[in-house]
Amino acid sequence: MEVIPLGGAAEDAGQMARDVRAGLSATPKDLSPWPKYFYDAEGSRLFEEITAQPEYYQTGAELSILKDRSDEIVARTGCRELVELGSGSASKTRALIDAMFATGGAPPRYVMLDVSESALRESGERLVSEYPGLGIQGFIGDFDLSLGRLLGRPSDHGRLVAFLGGTIGNFTPEKRREFLGALRDGLRDGDRVLVGLDLVKDRQTLEAAYNDAAGVTARFNRNMIRVINHRLGAGLDPDLFSHRAIYDAERERVEMWLHSEAEQSTVSPNLEAAFERGEGVRTEISTKFTPDSAARTFEEAGLRLLDLYTDERDLFALALGGPA
Ligand code: SAH
Ligand code: AVI
Repeated sequence: MEVIPLGGAAEDAGQMARDVRAGLSATPKDLSPWPKYFYDAEGSRLFEEITAQPEYYQTGAELSILKDRSDEIVARTGCRELVELGSGSASKTRALIDAMFATGGAPPRYVMLDVSESALRESGERLVSEYPGLGIQGFIGDFDLSLGRLLGRPSDHGRLVAFLGGTIGNFTPEKRREFLGALRDGLRDGDRVLVGLDLVKDRQTLEAAYNDAAGVTARFNRNMIRVINHRLGAGLDPDLFSHRAIYDAERERVEMWLHSEAEQSTVSPNLEAAFERGEGVRTEISTKFTPDSAARTFEEAGLRLLDLYTDERDLFALALGGPA
């Protein structure tokens, strides 16, 4: 598989130092604008483990929609090239790839972009061996910075740009608008987008999904501290942080926080930071959508919502769109 660095990946320690310094000097401390710092090799592995927890309904719900609807989506869009942003393990993507193969004709193409090199290489190599004939290209980079370059590459086919898993919910509202606007600007005539959106539901289900009994989400959350220590030479104690995930019904989002159980500080050339006892840092937001907010989100970005596919239990949705 061809792997091409696009830049802006998490390995840029200078940028990361600036981001983390900004986040830890805010009041309250806030690292949630940079979810990419969760995803080193261990973070990608922990995310995969989260998707297998019984409380984390998202993955199963999204997979069931893809299994039911991929043939229809591929027929409707006529796409021969699937471009996946934040592809991770690309495990659910197989449903779309199978559907592209099933239409016959020239072999389809699959283009993947992820900031996590380990996740990209592992999943890409697996797909190469599972799908002889599938043309695969992997790009390592930050989709905030490299969407234009990725979508600006020449292509002879109609493309379906997939952004699965509900990752769009991890953006702040401002970043979400910028991202979808850049996505819209990168589309050519005939291209379509397919965006996974987790849906608003009862607090109990939502909070359980981010507080799994096995504690995997807590380990994923603390991994952000390990990544900061490792990449910035900082010395915060991950085990002093306790994990919390709370649903904010007004803002329709789950927030993950880490609270330091004791006073602690770190001084390194890249980062000086201190936590009071009990002080928290917001590490992630995960916005949930309704059919109305999904339609509004697309409309604001100049995208036309063509369909909103949901699973049997209305847990999750896949929004199919195109240029307005
Ligand atoms: N789409 C997959 C993975 C979701 S996890 C699924 O549905 O299971 C979020 C993925 O986005 C991770 O693989 C992570 O490495 C990637 N990611 C997070 N922030 C990113 C960024 N700024 N640029 C590119 N990839 C990013
Ligand atoms: C990738 N993203 C959609 C996940 C989510 O549910 O917001 C990340 C995650 N955080 C905690 N658990 C899973």
